[in-house]
Amino acid sequence: MLDRKPVRCDPRLPWLPRTRRFLSPMSGVTDRPFRDVCRRFGADIGFCEFVSASGLTYGGEQTWKLVDTEGEDQLVGVQIFGSNPDHMAQATRLLMPHRLDVLDLNFGCPAKKVVKKCGGSALLADLPLLERIVRAVTAEATVPVTAKIRTGWDEDSVNYDEVGLMLQDLGMSWVTMHGRTRAQKYTGQADWDRIARLVETLEIPVIGNGDVVDGDSYRRLVTRTRCHGVMVGRGAIGNPWIFARMRAVDEGYPEPEVTFAELCTVSIEHIRGEVAARGERQGVFTVRKHIAKCFKGQAGAAHLRRRVFAHEDSARMIGVLEEAARRGSAALEPEESS
Ligand SMILES: Cc1cc2nc3c(=O)[nH]c(=O)nc-3n(C[C@H](O)[C@H](O)[C@H](O)COP(=O)(O)O)c2cc1C
Repeated sequence: MLDRKPVRCDPRLPWLPRTRRFLSPMSGVTDRPFRDVCRRFGADIGFCEFVSASGLTYGGEQTWKLVDTEGEDQLVGVQIFGSNPDHMAQATRLLMPHRLDVLDLNFGCPAKKVVKKCGGSALLADLPLLERIVRAVTAEATVPVTAKIRTGWDEDSVNYDEVGLMLQDLGMSWVTMHGRTRAQKYTGQADWDRIARLVETLEIPVIGNGDVVDGDSYRRLVTRTRCHGVMVGRGAIGNPWIFARMRAVDEGYPEPEVTFAELCTVSIEHIRGEVAARGERQGVFTVRKHIAKCFKGQAGAAHLRRRVFAHEDSARMIGVLEEAARRGSAALEPEESS
């Protein structure tokens, strides 16, 4: 059993004490079909891709499509971003009749188009505005509210301890921290020691995030920080099995092996899910980034990917994968010309 710091869990979230494995919100990635696949392999909770609070208040159809949680019967969070407290409050009000277990606030996004409007990680450099936003949201929310932060805006303004304490005082049920500054974006390494310090500082759960890619890195992050849970982003793309590996670490049994046939059958299931959710064209487009990563390192992977991606309709892609599942990867390699 991994050692975790005892924390004060929000009594409105009876499932939180045993919730350890979090699928990150990822724009363009963590839609309903992918969340379903990840939870099947052991993710305890999934998050929708982040959604603009202003977009929700304007009623944009494309924006509302991102809140794809209707009928979702497992744990799910919706994450909003924005810098206008009124829009954040109004978006919260509009979201409350929808299906969500927690509402997460994005204070970590490094993207230019978000920070130039003072949203996402830019709020780490404007704590009075961040506080107004949190107060505006919590006044409207009928579900628990959580926040996702980075360690600070840049190395000269690292302030996660101050931000974390403020978020705790403002009633957040947990804080997730990606161990990089905004200036780092995705470069370098996530600073797990900073996550450890935040765990020590706060009484509420801290969810550690950054650079967990397998069971071993999961074990090392928890051991180093004693964080309550771990959120995984990139490590889950094309690799929902990471959650099975994490679960094996949590429950103390050997990490499961994934067979080539299973890579194929789960990819098929994912294609079907995306096409059902988004329609043929968009569904096929969305699932490609998962399949591109899924077969990495397998014998014949490049050839298999080429064969799958040669098709733009899901039935043919599925046909190639079904054949691959039957025959094995090596059998699909192009024959040497004699
Ligand atoms: C394609 C992509 C989209 C992302 N979208 C979001 C998002 O919508 N909301 C968010 O809080 N973080 C988002 N992130 C950041 C991740 O949630 C996570 O914090 C970051 O990737 C570090 O974790 P990792 O090393 O496990 O990937 C995104 C990351 C990627 C790679």
